[in-house]
Amino acid sequence: MDQVEDLSGRREAFAGLFHGGRPVLSLAPMQDITDLPFWRLMARRGGADLYFTEYFRVTPDYRPEKSILRSITENPTGRPAVAQMIGNDMEAMARVARELERHDVAAIDLNLGCPAPVVYRKCAGGGLLRDLPRIDALLARLREAIGGAFTVKTRVGFESAGEFDALLEVFSRHSLDLLTVHGRTVAEKYGPKVHHDRIAQAVRRLGCPVQANGSIVSARSAREVLESTGAAGLMIGRGAIRNPWVFSQIRDDLAGRVAVLPTGREVLAYVNELYGEVCQPEFPERMQVQKMKKYMNFLGEGMEDAAGFLHEIRRCDTRVDFFAVCTRHLDHDRPLALEPMETRLAGE
Ligand SMILES: Cc1cc2nc3c(=O)[nH]c(=O)nc-3n(C[C@H](O)[C@H](O)[C@H](O)COP(=O)(O)O)c2cc1C
Repeated sequence: MDQVEDLSGRREAFAGLFHGGRPVLSLAPMQDITDLPFWRLMARRGGADLYFTEYFRVTPDYRPEKSILRSITENPTGRPAVAQMIGNDMEAMARVARELERHDVAAIDLNLGCPAPVVYRKCAGGGLLRDLPRIDALLARLREAIGGAFTVKTRVGFESAGEFDALLEVFSRHSLDLLTVHGRTVAEKYGPKVHHDRIAQAVRRLGCPVQANGSIVSARSAREVLESTGAAGLMIGRGAIRNPWVFSQIRDDLAGRVAVLPTGREVLAYVNELYGEVCQPEFPERMQVQKMKKYMNFLGEGMEDAAGFLHEIRRCDTRVDFFAVCTRHLDHDRPLALEPMETRLAGE
């Protein structure tokens, strides 16, 4: 039996987040994106209520990476941080969970959704969704080891959303403190369909709060997802890279206020700040621009001329060229919804 520290106060505080009278808004974990500097940038624009770290990829002799741990020990957001783990070695995961709980974490989260073949082929992340007995045993072991809040982030199945019934049965057995449902199967990767009916099913079936995730990109889509699922929280990933104001916009909209859209120039200022925060000056300029392109792949989808912007930005190698393209597309005062084309068309 583990020497589980009494962290029941933390568990209660976590539950309290979901009794604040409005849905909890979380920044999704995104590997190589949602690091400490990125959290800081989000927090400056209103920010999320809850921040999930990139995953700690646990193997038998794993020690948590300092770079990810920093998000927790130097959390700049003023809001609680959840530490996410991915892996399948029960004892290693129990050990790392306890180690992470020595820090100021609001909860430990288990990733059951990663669709990358290098991960799922090793039966971790989304790969575990094909092995219910293994998930059952892992959840039991982690629930026993974790003294504070224990949360799971899942997809709705591996091949088919029909698998979700049995998955919920397993989740319901382990006193989870939150289930985040990315409403796609692993096979669907990031495809257009999000199974909101399955998120609603989780809300009805489980005693714990359920957070909805998948292509929430605006105050309008947030309202629609809340209405169709009854979720207690929303998790936003790519939509927050594209539009870091999205959390404030959702809060305003839910409170009956007008959600203010940023102007082109405000978006340009965000890109400038992003460069300053996430690009380390000691790295070659070409690498810095490469790093920015990763963010621009998402941000570009929300531009007025998305195809033109992305075409030009992908050809940049220098900082000067990069900002020349950004300035050409963003140096204006028109408000930008920063939604990708699919949702712009759907909303018309
Ligand atoms: C670049 C990238 C990295 C991601 N890394 C993680 C991760 O480390 N852990 C995780 O649970 N999900 C990860 N995801 C999935 C997101 O957390 C989220 O579930 C998914 O993007 C759907 O939400 P969205 O439509 O709001 O982006 C990642 C997604 C992207 C695009």
